[in-house]
Amino acid sequence: MVFFKGGVSLLSKLRSRAVQHPSLRDSVRWLQVQTFSDLDLHSQLKELIPEQQERLKKIKSEHGKVQLGNITVDMVLGGMRGMTGLLWETSLLDPEEGIRFRGLSIPECQKVLPAAKPGGEPMPEGLLWLLLTGKVPTKEQVDSLSKELRSRATVPDHVYKTINALPVNAHPMTQFATGVMALQVQSEFQMAYEKGIHKSKYWEPTYEDSLSLIAQVPVVAAYVYRRMYKNEQVIPMDDSLDYGGNFAHMLGFDSPDMLELMRLYVTIHSDHEGGNVSAHTGHLVASALSDPYLSFAAALNGLAGPLHGLANQEVLLWIKSVVEECGENVTKENLKDYVWKTLNSGKVVPGFGHGVLRKTDPRYTCQREFALKHLPDDPLFKLVSNLYEVVPPILLELGKVKNPWPNVDAHSGVLLNHYGLTEARYFTVLFGVSRAIGICSQLIWDRALGLPLERPKSVTMEWLENYCKKAA
Ligand SMILES: CC(C)(COP(=O)(O)OP(=O)(O)OC[C@H]1O[C@@H](n2cnc3c(N)ncnc32)[C@H](O)[C@@H]1OP(=O)(O)O)[C@@H](O)C(=O)NCCC(=O)NCCS
Repeated sequence: MVFFKGGVSLLSKLRSRAVQHPSLRDSVRWLQVQTFSDLDLHSQLKELIPEQQERLKKIKSEHGKVQLGNITVDMVLGGMRGMTGLLWETSLLDPEEGIRFRGLSIPECQKVLPAAKPGGEPMPEGLLWLLLTGKVPTKEQVDSLSKELRSRATVPDHVYKTINALPVNAHPMTQFATGVMALQVQSEFQMAYEKGIHKSKYWEPTYEDSLSLIAQVPVVAAYVYRRMYKNEQVIPMDDSLDYGGNFAHMLGFDSPDMLELMRLYVTIHSDHEGGNVSAHTGHLVASALSDPYLSFAAALNGLAGPLHGLANQEVLLWIKSVVEECGENVTKENLKDYVWKTLNSGKVVPGFGHGVLRKTDPRYTCQREFALKHLPDDPLFKLVSNLYEVVPPILLELGKVKNPWPNVDAHSGVLLNHYGLTEARYFTVLFGVSRAIGICSQLIWDRALGLPLERPKSVTMEWLENYCKKAA
């Protein structure tokens, strides 16, 4: 049984839009609901790789010298904003519209990706299939991938021992990243490389590592949670559950709505094109032929920064500080005062702004829709809704903030809090589990396409001064 909500008609609409917009043709060539019975992701990928290798070769040979823009001093000094410098196949971010996974927006993914229950949220395994193959999987293919991930989910004992060597109150991201590093000893890529594998075959052990890593990160993450907050009472995986559902279950949350939230959460946090700190870090480290475990652990360390993944923790803590100071039924006037107080003390308002987006993040919008459907009367959700009205005009008034609108992190905390996952310090670990799907999918393609070592040029201030003098 396949639970599509108008999926086929949506796909035909997308296809006809592609006919009218030549630039979309290439991505939509990939958009086909799978109708054949092949349930094996590996062999699907094997079939696709030669075609994509040829495509890359053609772009290089025919367009290698085409300019993609000018690099300005502002870009060099401004964190490389607006500088196109990376190939990232799995998703593309439009500043006005938000993310598209292999050409599909979040609402489109919610319509066409298989769900665990009729009309439900997309399953992260379906998104993994889409990111890797560019094709929307059937429910049978997703179920087969769920099964494969469960079969790869056994975490070696030494990983738990390594985590246990840390103080129990070490930040959950430190414990999680340490666990991922400990998983690395099982890397098939490293073993194959030591045995002298031919470079045309690199993608195969990378695929094996990536799938095992994706399968095991929820187990490691759940262990960290239970160790820290639930007296080390670990909950084993349930073989009847899918990836997102199992993750919620292992954390200790079994309500059907929380399982749905986790499926949605893991799906929407997985990938956000290649330039964000975690994705770019993973890609950079992997470019040295570091295996998926090493690369993803590095990505997690970037995700742990407050300007990136840690913002979801900061948002809930900040919202709770509002409630502490002003009460749950805080007026908009009092909220404005609190926002100004935060800004005047030299802090950012967490959950607002973005390095690339210039509109409300669609990941925020779909979480808001989830809240409107499942928890419209939650007092913290009402507060988040009021912030949506109060914060943007204030940030605009500052005159320097490029995007005053809420991002993905502005919403996730109150949803999790509603279902009992109240430990804000843990939230970035959930983001990290999801990111494994996006970063590893691209990493497999990095190897399949033979992408090179990343090595941009850097300069000194003196070099810039001299160069600019000459250019004047
Ligand atoms: C995400 C973020 C790091 C993007 O940074 P950026 O690309 O440099 O953003 P901008 O170009 O708009 O920044 C220009 C200025 O506005 C400030 N600004 C941006 N967002 C802000 C916010 N939410 N609150 C207060 N000030 C903000 C920046 O700190 C910067 O100030 P400065 O020139 O004094 O250093 C930034 O918006 C931010 O810190 N947001 C809050 C943290 C957050 O939610 N992160 C999660 C992102 S998904």
